[in-house]
Amino acid sequence: MKVRASAPGKAILFGEHAVVYGKPAIAVAINRKAIITIREGTDDAINVQIPDLDVYGQIDIDNQEICLINNEETSKTPSASSDTSSTSNDLSYDAGILKYIQTALFSDEFKPDHGLDIQVDLEIPIGAGLGSSAAITVATLAAAARYHRQELTLEKLAHMAHQVELEVQGAASPLDTTLSTYGGFIYFTHKEGALKIKPALEMPLVVGYTAEPGNTGMLIERVRKLRQNHPNLIGPLLDTMEKLTNEARDAITSGEEKRVAELMNINQGLLDALGVNTLELSDLIYEARNAGAIGSKITGAGGGGSIIAYCPGKTREVLEKLESVENAFQVSISQKGVTW
Ligand code: MEV
Repeated sequence: MKVRASAPGKAILFGEHAVVYGKPAIAVAINRKAIITIREGTDDAINVQIPDLDVYGQIDIDNQEICLINNEETSKTPSASSDTSSTSNDLSYDAGILKYIQTALFSDEFKPDHGLDIQVDLEIPIGAGLGSSAAITVATLAAAARYHRQELTLEKLAHMAHQVELEVQGAASPLDTTLSTYGGFIYFTHKEGALKIKPALEMPLVVGYTAEPGNTGMLIERVRKLRQNHPNLIGPLLDTMEKLTNEARDAITSGEEKRVAELMNINQGLLDALGVNTLELSDLIYEARNAGAIGSKITGAGGGGSIIAYCPGKTREVLEKLESVENAFQVSISQKGVTW
């Protein structure tokens, strides 16, 4: 028995962090996916391999403990008592992904009663603010539902995936898991969920990402503390982000290129004020603008991770510049969400 599911990552154009406080956001699902393959196990544990990250782990079916297996040991039969293993408490950043898989797999509906071999293939860089953990979570839940031959509506899947993110990260909005489930170009509100946006302009977008991963849970916590320490300043700043996102939706749907770009640049200033910028991200943002992007900002949680640049007529120039500084790719919007 072998099943496979995939789900796209995402890029936020407007409203990250504010969305955690009930504000709207605008985001796109991107043409880069997480692909999960589940096979019946060769032993009675859950063996997980993520070859793109060189991460190999084992999850104990009974106590759900995660053991990380050193790369040199991967040719041996993984053993929970191996000297080279470590528990979930000291997982490295990359290996932290195992926690999302464990939480998704052991959700009430799909608790495994026999060993599984799980392979995770990643087209999305990890910790880059591009929704890798949401994509992995959504694809794991979808693959597990298929494996157990259970019906799962998209609505239920998005809800379960959000619960997994909440459990692993401590705090999260449903934005990332919604995009990985449904795909498309969306205006997200907590009240109405994902509303599709029809842009009246081309959206040539380039993502540049730094080698430094950002930790979403920690960054959400940083903003929470800042808001707690300065409620009279951060409250209105988040309100301004809400107005900005609503203006951006109007600008996108009425085809106002210059206004979209200006709003991205203002959003960047506000994210900087929230304390989620870094020197490396700033560098990419200004390199993109110097190479011809008319708007550029952090995308996602910040603190490392990625920027997104809006570059009508200058995609190649911006891509080349960002590639020469760090890593970059051109974004195309994935209308497809989860596939299983
Ligand atoms: C992370 O991709 C975006 C944040 O707004 C957190 C969230 O929405 O869960 C920073």
